Parts: sequence; structure tokens; C-alpha cells
Amino acid sequence: MCLGHLVAWWVMSARTNPYSLRIRRCRYIRGIRGEGKGKMGRPYFIMSNRTPRLNRRGEAKRPLRRRDGPCQIAGLAAMLRQRSAQSSHPLPLMHARVYHHPMSQIESLFVTRIYRAELNEFGPGVDPDELEASCYGIAEDDEAGQDWCEENGYPGYTSYASLTDLGWRSPIFADVIKALDAHVAAFAEDLEFDLADRKLELEDLWINILPEGGMHSSHLHPHSVISGTTYVSMPEGTSSLKLEDPRSGRLMAAPPRKKDARRDLQTFVYMEPKVGDVLLWESWLRHEVPMNMAEDDRVSVSFNYKWAAE
Ligand SMILES: [Fe+2]
Repeated sequence: MCLGHLVAWWVMSARTNPYSLRIRRCRYIRGIRGEGKGKMGRPYFIMSNRTPRLNRRGEAKRPLRRRDGPCQIAGLAAMLRQRSAQSSHPLPLMHARVYHHPMSQIESLFVTRIYRAELNEFGPGVDPDELEASCYGIAEDDEAGQDWCEENGYPGYTSYASLTDLGWRSPIFADVIKALDAHVAAFAEDLEFDLADRKLELEDLWINILPEGGMHSSHLHPHSVISGTTYVSMPEGTSSLKLEDPRSGRLMAAPPRKKDARRDLQTFVYMEPKVGDVLLWESWLRHEVPMNMAEDDRVSVSFNYKWAAE
């Protein structure tokens, strides 16, 4: 195999071969100069456009200098083509280390974090039964909320449009808010938000009572930073929380994922919280509550946190 064939094979195989190649300091390649192993034991070839000068031990006299920033094989191919077109003048000495990785390097970027914990993890203790009783008590008294649900075709009851002061109305909701503040602060830490001197503060908190057959269609929470729900009553067989890949609108012609695809690659993910859990997500994440197939009510308390003004 002549060198031209070798380079052509090398360039083409990088596109189809699961082994990836990492190129360092290279503009033009005329021969394989040697081979060795990198710090992590990865094998590499040393390539050069000049016949190597060796010392007595048969090692290259000129030390190889490495330049930061690996480039991709496609970039190398482009450079080779460009250099070939300009081959009327001598090319400078160049070296390349070509690493053969035992595995492709694949990483996850732009991840979507979902926070799940027990509401009482940071205290104060909130009794789910007492919280449930408070939810029903408030729902019964909230005629404006009941009217709003009826007028807007909302199944069951929500205080979203009628009450903005649950923490003031009921001591147990004041405890819920204290607990949520701690969870949201922990999640903000995990998300590595740079909040400067401003903190995330509660914007809205509301009750949801979803009877059998009730559902809450896909939506997101604009103008907020963190949203979430704590679960008060989750009868056997009730609906999970369905989360949607935030990029789904851009998938267009992409094939669907396999049914048994890894959870972090699926387009829709179902969370199955239990009573006393709290789930948090970034407010731009689209989510829905599928139909409650249980005979009993699904009761939850949802909330939004915003980035407080200075
Ligand atoms: Fe929501």
C-alpha cells in the first residue's frame, strides 16, 4: 500500500470506524515515523512529512512538540486537500500524533436536570395527611377557585387562579414553603447557577386536586426559573408526571428512539413520585399529567420560583 492509499484509508476509515482518531500538530503527512503509547496507555503513530533523523538508540532526534487542541479527522482531510493544491513550494516540517482510542469518546452536553427528594429531608416535618386535609379544606372554602375551574373546564380543583397566599392562610403551607426554599436552593447549587446577590424566591404556590379522568395537558411555566410539585395523595394506579425532551420541536426528521432506549435518551420520561416527594425541574421543561385512571383524587401542590430582583 502506497502512502496515498494509506492516508486515504486512514481518512475514510475515521468516518466509518468506531475507533476515533485525535490529531495533534499536523498540516501535512508524508510518512509514518514511529509509534508509541501515550500517558493513558493509548497507542499512537507519529507521522511526519520528512524522513526521520534518528539517534543511536533509533529514536527521533527532534523532540515532538504538541500543540493543544485536537482537531477532527475531517479537518485534517480538508487541510490535506488544501496543502496538495499548494504543493509548488516546499512544505515545513510537521509532526502529528494520531491516537487510536479503544472507544469512541461520547459525552452528554446540555443536560436536563431533574431533582427528586423527600419534602421533609431538610425539615420542618410536614405530615402528608394533615396537608391533604388542608388542601381539601381550602378547596371547599374557595368559591372563586371553584368557579374558575368550572368556567375554564378544569377537571377537579386548582387554587392557581384564585389564591396567592396559602402560606399565610395555613401554618402547614408555611412549613411547606420553608421546606421548598431549602430544596430549591439545593437544586440551584446543583445547576451551578450564578445567582450573584439575588436568590430564587417563591413566586406562586397552588393546590391541584385531580379526580378520576382528570388530566393536565402539556405545558411549561414561562417567566419562572424553577418549577416543581410536591405530592400529597397518589392513589394506586394514578398518573405519573410525563416530561418531554425540550428539543423535541427540533427533531423533525430524526428517527424515533428505541422503546428500550436509555432513560436519558428517551423523548418522554415518566416520573413516578410517591406521597411526600418533591420534584423540581427548570421551568422551561415541558410536562404534563396524563389522565388519572385511579378512582381516588390525585392531590399535589405545585409552585414556581423566580430569580428575585436586587
Ligand atoms: Fe406544570
